Amino acid sequence: MNTAADITTAPAIPPAATGRGIAPLRDFVTAFGRLLDSAPDEARVLAEGGALLRTLVAQDDWLPTAYAQPNPERYQQFLLHADSTERFSVVSFVWGPGQATPVHDHTVWGLIGMLRGAEYSQPWRLGDDGRAVPDGEGVRLDAGDVEAVSPTVGDVHRVHNLFDDRVSISIHVYGANIGAVRRHTYPAEGTRKPFISGYSNTELPNLWDRSIELRNA
Ligand SMILES: [Fe+2]
Repeated sequence: MNTAADITTAPAIPPAATGRGIAPLRDFVTAFGRLLDSAPDEARVLAEGGALLRTLVAQDDWLPTAYAQPNPERYQQFLLHADSTERFSVVSFVWGPGQATPVHDHTVWGLIGMLRGAEYSQPWRLGDDGRAVPDGEGVRLDAGDVEAVSPTVGDVHRVHNLFDDRVSISIHVYGANIGAVRRHTYPAEGTRKPFISGYSNTELPNLWDRSIELRNA
């Protein structure tokens, strides 16, 4: 069981984004929007969007520290960007040591890219009696890895931070404004419960101040 004391004694989060600043995230959302402009089917979104996300999480030097903060009580989901027509959203999912989600669904396609640390995603499926049961082997994600979820490729899972002594962070992209999507958790007693996740933040990172690169050009 993690406590506030565990978190304060955990290794420090890497320093604030330097070097490239927020530009990699801006480039990512621009490229992702262009991909969706071409009206791809889901398989193409997951393949080509997954490649874009793999590039984004290949280097851990761009996420502002404000969106990398754990909470000792529960995992955090910070909105980093929402498409203006809510075709997609990008979040940083910050795990405190030992934290885990309940079994849950998404109802839309999603891509998960590991930026820092590691997590474990255990797929579940709904049995004949409507109860969720574990479905095969889970997937370990280490920094740089990407996996997909959707009602087509498998939508129900339970995820946990693989580390009991440090923060892990994954970057997720969903085919909707995920914080405002009606979804479900699947408690052990067998009755699915509706939830709407919302977000942990009320302010977004500024992706659009290009003045530094313009002045340096
Ligand atoms: Fe999930």
